[in-house]
Amino acid sequence: MKILFNLLITSLIALIIALAFGAYNMAATEKHWEITEKFIERMRESSIDVRSRDLTVPSLDAPDMLSAGAEHYHEMCTICHLAPGMKPTELSVGLYPRAPIFHESEPISDDTERLTRARTYFWVIKNGLKMTAMPAWGLSHSDDDIWGMTAFILKLGKMTPENYQELTHSTQHETPGHDHEHGSH
Ligand code: HEC
Repeated sequence: MKILFNLLITSLIALIIALAFGAYNMAATEKHWEITEKFIERMRESSIDVRSRDLTVPSLDAPDMLSAGAEHYHEMCTICHLAPGMKPTELSVGLYPRAPIFHESEPISDDTERLTRARTYFWVIKNGLKMTAMPAWGLSHSDDDIWGMTAFILKLGKMTPENYQELTHSTQHETPGHDHEHGSH
């Protein structure tokens, strides 16, 4: 028993030394093992769940809140999360983990699911996520602003470019991110 224990401790120390001296490849182009990815996902989901499950969700249908959320989203989020009708940006393709593309997901029809997602999204937008490119917007924005962005993202599932432009008061021309084929300004 003692021998096994010593072997385990020695291997752990050897592993920590190897990691501290460059054995681990931190490149964003080097994907995690599947098992590591599963573990990180589980850790991320449970961590957010524990911290967001008691949040009180305000009414997310107020038109003012939604349109403010749409404008914030259009200004600050599309460079990574894109928007209906927008091509991937140079920044979005280089991210690891990738930013989720909300408008590609199915619309949410279930009310319980919508509430759970609202809490998760609010918490992530406010606090950001460690070791990913997702910033903490709560350092610069009020909770009301963040609920607005949450409300808008919940409506993004399968949204058409026309609907998006209407809600964000944007035109195709203004869609952020530049386009090599048509030049930029
Ligand atoms: C610089 C890139 C970047 C910007 C800008 C950015 N995000 Fe993110 N965001 C990410 C990445 C990357 C993830 C995924 C992290 C992960 O997989 O754990 C993410 C995750 C999220 C999530 C969690 C989604 C889920 O399914 O749990 C939400 C919500 C979110 N972002 C909202 C926003 C909003 C709103 C804005 C603008 C105010 C924004 N993000 C701006 C990179 C970005």
